[in-house]
Amino acid sequence: MNTEQLFDHSLERVLARQRDGKAFFEAFYDAFIAASPEVAEKFRDTDMERQRTMLRKSFYHLLSFYASNDADYYLHRVAISHNHRHYNIRPHLYDLWLETLIATLWRFDVHCDEATELAWRLIMAPGIVYMKFHYERDAIVGS
Ligand code: HEM
Repeated sequence: MNTEQLFDHSLERVLARQRDGKAFFEAFYDAFIAASPEVAEKFRDTDMERQRTMLRKSFYHLLSFYASNDADYYLHRVAISHNHRHYNIRPHLYDLWLETLIATLWRFDVHCDEATELAWRLIMAPGIVYMKFHYERDAIVGS
C-alpha cells in the first residue's frame, strides 16, 4: 500500500472508534490541552467548542494542503493568524501538536504499525513546515 492508502484506511478506522467514551478528535483535543500549559494558555479566552473546531479544522487543513500541493491554498490566512504578531504559536507547539496526534493515532488504530505512523507524519509534514516557516514572517512567501 502507498502512503495515501495507508493513511486513508487508518483514518477510517480511527474515526469509526471510541475510546473511554471519546471519539478521535475529542481524545486528541483533551490530550493536546493537557500536554502543555502553554497550549492551555493560548486557548484561555476561547470557548471549548471553538477549541475543538480548531483542532479538527487544523487536521483537515493540513490534509488538504498535502492533497492539493498548492501553496496558494487558504492555509495562507491561517499561517498569518498564527504568526508571531497574532496568536503567536511558537514553532515547537506544532511539534507538540503532531506528537499528540500520533500518540492518539496509536490509541485509536488497532492496526497501526510503523508504516502507518510514517504515512500520517508524511501527510501532515508539508502543512506543518508551512506554518512554522511563516511564524517569523509577516508577508506570505509564495502567494
Ligand atoms: C497544525 C497546524 C494548525 C492549523 C492548520 C490551524 C488552523 C486553525 C484554524 C483554521 C483556526 C480558526 C481560524 C483562525 O482563527 O485563523 C485556528 C485558530 C486557532 N489556533 Fe490553530 N491551527 C494549527 C495549529 C495550532 C497550534 C499548534 C496551536 C497552539 C495552541 C493553535 C492555536 C490556535 C488558537 C489559539 C486559535 C484561535 C482560537 C480562537 O480564539 O478563536 N493552532 N487554527
